[in-house]
Amino acid sequence: MGEMDDLCVTDCTRCPALVESRSQIVNGTGPEDADVLFVGEGPGAREDEGGEPFVGRSGSVLDEQLRTVGLDRDTVRITNCVRCRPPENRDPTKAELENCRGYLVREIDLLDPDVIVTLGKVPTEHLLERDVAVTKEAGSVEDVRIGDTPRRLLICVHPAATLYDRSQEETFQNAIQRAAELADVDG
Ligand code: URA
Repeated sequence: MGEMDDLCVTDCTRCPALVESRSQIVNGTGPEDADVLFVGEGPGAREDEGGEPFVGRSGSVLDEQLRTVGLDRDTVRITNCVRCRPPENRDPTKAELENCRGYLVREIDLLDPDVIVTLGKVPTEHLLERDVAVTKEAGSVEDVRIGDTPRRLLICVHPAATLYDRSQEETFQNAIQRAAELADVDG
Protein backbone atom coordinates (compact mmCIF):
# COMPACT_ATOMS: atom_id res chain seq x y z
CA MET A 1 0.00 0.00 0.00
CA GLY A 2 1.50 3.39 -1.03
CA GLU A 3 1.36 6.52 1.08
CA MET A 4 -1.26 7.95 -1.25
CA ASP A 5 -3.63 5.14 -0.27
CA ASP A 6 -3.70 6.69 3.21
CA LEU A 7 -5.35 9.75 1.81
CA CYS A 8 -8.06 7.87 0.07
CA VAL A 9 -10.97 9.05 2.19
CA THR A 10 -13.38 6.16 2.54
CA ASP A 11 -15.75 7.50 5.15
CA CYS A 12 -16.55 11.07 6.11
CA THR A 13 -19.71 12.60 7.56
CA ARG A 14 -18.51 16.16 8.25
CA CYS A 15 -20.89 17.84 5.77
CA PRO A 16 -24.51 16.73 6.34
CA ALA A 17 -25.79 18.16 3.02
CA LEU A 18 -23.05 16.45 1.02
CA VAL A 19 -23.55 13.13 2.78
CA GLU A 20 -27.13 13.33 1.48
CA SER A 21 -26.25 14.43 -2.07
CA ARG A 22 -23.26 12.21 -2.85
CA SER A 23 -23.38 8.64 -4.02
CA GLN A 24 -19.72 8.17 -3.17
CA ILE A 25 -16.60 10.02 -2.05
CA VAL A 26 -14.45 11.05 -5.04
CA ASN A 27 -10.74 10.96 -4.19
CA GLY A 28 -7.83 12.33 -6.22
CA THR A 29 -6.30 10.20 -8.97
CA GLY A 30 -2.86 10.00 -10.55
CA PRO A 31 0.65 8.92 -9.67
CA GLU A 32 2.22 9.54 -6.26
CA ASP A 33 5.22 11.25 -7.87
CA ALA A 34 3.33 13.54 -10.27
CA ASP A 35 4.99 16.96 -10.80
CA VAL A 36 1.69 18.72 -11.40
CA LEU A 37 -1.43 18.68 -9.23
CA PHE A 38 -4.68 20.01 -10.71
CA VAL A 39 -7.28 21.09 -8.17
CA GLY A 40 -10.93 21.51 -9.17
CA GLU A 41 -13.95 22.57 -7.21
CA GLY A 42 -15.84 19.39 -6.46
CA PRO A 43 -17.34 16.36 -8.20
CA GLY A 44 -20.23 16.84 -10.64
CA ALA A 45 -22.79 14.22 -11.62
CA ARG A 46 -20.43 12.17 -13.80
CA GLU A 47 -17.68 12.19 -11.21
CA ASP A 48 -20.13 11.22 -8.46
CA GLU A 49 -21.22 8.31 -10.62
CA GLY A 50 -17.75 7.26 -11.79
CA GLY A 51 -15.81 7.89 -8.58
CA GLU A 52 -13.03 9.87 -10.31
CA PRO A 53 -12.45 13.61 -10.69
CA PHE A 54 -12.92 15.26 -14.08
CA VAL A 55 -14.42 12.40 -16.07
CA GLY A 56 -17.34 14.40 -17.51
CA ARG A 57 -17.34 17.16 -20.15
CA SER A 58 -14.89 19.35 -18.22
CA GLY A 59 -12.61 16.33 -17.96
CA SER A 60 -12.64 15.85 -21.75
CA VAL A 61 -11.64 19.49 -22.23
CA LEU A 62 -8.85 19.09 -19.68
CA ASP A 63 -7.63 15.79 -21.17
CA GLU A 64 -7.50 17.22 -24.67
CA GLN A 65 -5.49 20.24 -23.61
CA LEU A 66 -3.13 18.11 -21.51
CA ARG A 67 -2.42 15.96 -24.57
CA THR A 68 -1.81 19.05 -26.70
CA VAL A 69 0.96 20.25 -24.37
CA GLY A 70 2.44 16.76 -23.89
CA LEU A 71 1.15 16.26 -20.36
CA ASP A 72 -0.75 12.98 -20.43
CA ARG A 73 -3.56 12.63 -17.87
CA ASP A 74 -1.87 9.51 -16.50
CA THR A 75 1.22 11.52 -15.54
CA VAL A 76 -0.52 14.23 -13.51
CA ARG A 77 -2.57 14.16 -10.32
CA ILE A 78 -6.10 15.50 -10.31
CA THR A 79 -8.18 16.25 -7.23
CA ASN A 80 -10.88 18.58 -5.90
CA CYS A 81 -11.41 21.00 -3.00
CA VAL A 82 -14.36 18.93 -1.81
CA ARG A 83 -14.66 15.20 -2.37
CA CYS A 84 -18.45 14.91 -2.35
CA ARG A 85 -20.88 16.24 -4.94
CA PRO A 86 -22.82 19.28 -3.71
CA PRO A 87 -26.60 19.17 -4.31
CA GLU A 88 -27.62 20.43 -7.79
CA ASN A 89 -23.92 21.11 -8.44
CA ARG A 90 -24.02 24.26 -6.31
CA ASP A 91 -20.70 25.73 -5.15
CA PRO A 92 -19.39 24.18 -1.96
CA THR A 93 -20.01 26.41 1.09
CA LYS A 94 -17.16 27.91 3.11
CA ALA A 95 -17.84 25.39 5.87
CA GLU A 96 -17.73 22.47 3.40
CA LEU A 97 -14.46 23.74 1.93
CA GLU A 98 -12.98 24.02 5.42
CA ASN A 99 -14.24 20.56 6.40
CA CYS A 100 -12.40 19.09 3.41
CA ARG A 101 -9.26 21.27 3.57
CA GLY A 102 -7.31 18.80 5.71
CA TYR A 103 -7.65 16.06 3.07
CA LEU A 104 -6.44 18.40 0.33
CA VAL A 105 -3.50 19.72 2.35
CA ARG A 106 -2.48 16.16 3.17
CA GLU A 107 -2.66 15.19 -0.50
CA ILE A 108 -0.49 18.21 -1.41
CA ASP A 109 2.02 17.39 1.34
CA LEU A 110 2.37 13.75 0.30
CA LEU A 111 2.62 14.55 -3.40
CA ASP A 112 4.94 17.56 -2.98
CA PRO A 113 4.22 18.75 -6.55
CA ASP A 114 6.34 21.29 -8.48
CA VAL A 115 3.21 23.22 -9.27
CA ILE A 116 -0.42 23.26 -8.15
CA VAL A 117 -2.83 24.35 -10.88
CA THR A 118 -6.16 25.67 -9.60
CA LEU A 119 -9.02 25.20 -12.05
CA GLY A 120 -11.48 28.06 -11.59
CA LYS A 121 -12.50 30.53 -8.94
CA VAL A 122 -13.40 28.22 -6.07
CA PRO A 123 -10.07 26.35 -5.74
CA THR A 124 -8.05 29.48 -6.56
CA GLU A 125 -9.68 31.59 -3.88
CA HIS A 126 -9.69 28.68 -1.43
CA LEU A 127 -5.93 28.11 -1.70
CA LEU A 128 -4.84 31.74 -2.11
CA GLU A 129 -7.29 32.87 0.59
CA ARG A 130 -8.20 36.06 -1.27
CA ASP A 131 -10.65 37.23 -3.94
CA VAL A 132 -9.36 36.45 -7.42
CA ALA A 133 -10.52 37.62 -10.87
CA VAL A 134 -9.57 34.29 -12.40
CA THR A 135 -10.02 35.21 -16.07
CA LYS A 136 -7.73 38.22 -15.62
CA GLU A 137 -5.14 36.45 -13.51
CA ALA A 138 -5.09 33.08 -15.34
CA GLY A 139 -1.55 32.06 -16.21
CA SER A 140 0.06 33.89 -13.31
CA VAL A 141 2.11 32.02 -10.78
CA GLU A 142 2.09 32.81 -7.07
CA ASP A 143 3.98 31.60 -4.08
CA VAL A 144 1.66 30.61 -1.28
CA ARG A 145 2.00 28.78 2.03
CA ILE A 146 -0.30 25.75 2.17
CA GLY A 147 -0.24 23.91 5.48
CA ASP A 148 3.34 24.46 6.66
CA THR A 149 4.99 24.55 3.26
CA PRO A 150 5.60 27.21 0.61
CA ARG A 151 4.05 26.13 -2.69
CA ARG A 152 3.95 27.39 -6.26
CA LEU A 153 0.42 27.89 -7.57
CA LEU A 154 -0.64 28.57 -11.14
CA ILE A 155 -4.05 30.16 -11.64
CA CYS A 156 -6.18 28.67 -14.44
CA VAL A 157 -9.78 29.11 -15.57
CA HIS A 158 -12.08 26.12 -15.11
CA PRO A 159 -12.21 23.91 -18.23
CA ALA A 160 -16.03 24.22 -18.23
CA ALA A 161 -15.63 27.98 -18.80
CA THR A 162 -14.41 27.21 -22.32
CA LEU A 163 -17.66 25.35 -23.03
CA TYR A 164 -19.81 28.37 -22.17
CA ASP A 165 -17.51 31.09 -23.43
CA ARG A 166 -15.26 30.38 -26.44
CA SER A 167 -13.15 33.43 -25.66
CA GLN A 168 -11.84 31.61 -22.58
CA GLU A 169 -10.33 28.84 -24.70
CA GLU A 170 -7.08 30.61 -25.35
CA THR A 171 -6.76 31.67 -21.72
CA PHE A 172 -7.22 28.05 -20.68
CA GLN A 173 -4.79 26.72 -23.29
CA ASN A 174 -2.10 29.24 -22.35
CA ALA A 175 -2.37 28.42 -18.66
CA ILE A 176 -2.09 24.67 -19.28
CA GLN A 177 0.91 25.32 -21.55
CA ARG A 178 2.49 27.26 -18.68
CA ALA A 179 1.85 24.32 -16.32
CA ALA A 180 3.69 22.00 -18.72
CA GLU A 181 6.62 24.43 -18.91
CA LEU A 182 6.84 24.72 -15.13
CA ALA A 183 6.84 20.93 -14.76
CA ASP A 184 9.47 20.61 -17.48
CA VAL A 185 11.79 23.27 -16.07
CA ASP A 186 12.09 21.26 -12.87
CA GLY A 187 12.49 17.94 -14.71
N1 URA B 1 -15.56 20.14 -12.09
C1 URA B 1 -14.74 20.13 -11.01
O1 URA B 1 -14.40 21.18 -10.48
N2 URA B 1 -14.31 18.96 -10.58
C2 URA B 1 -14.61 17.80 -11.16
O2 URA B 1 -14.14 16.77 -10.72
C3 URA B 1 -15.45 17.85 -12.29
C4 URA B 1 -15.93 19.02 -12.73
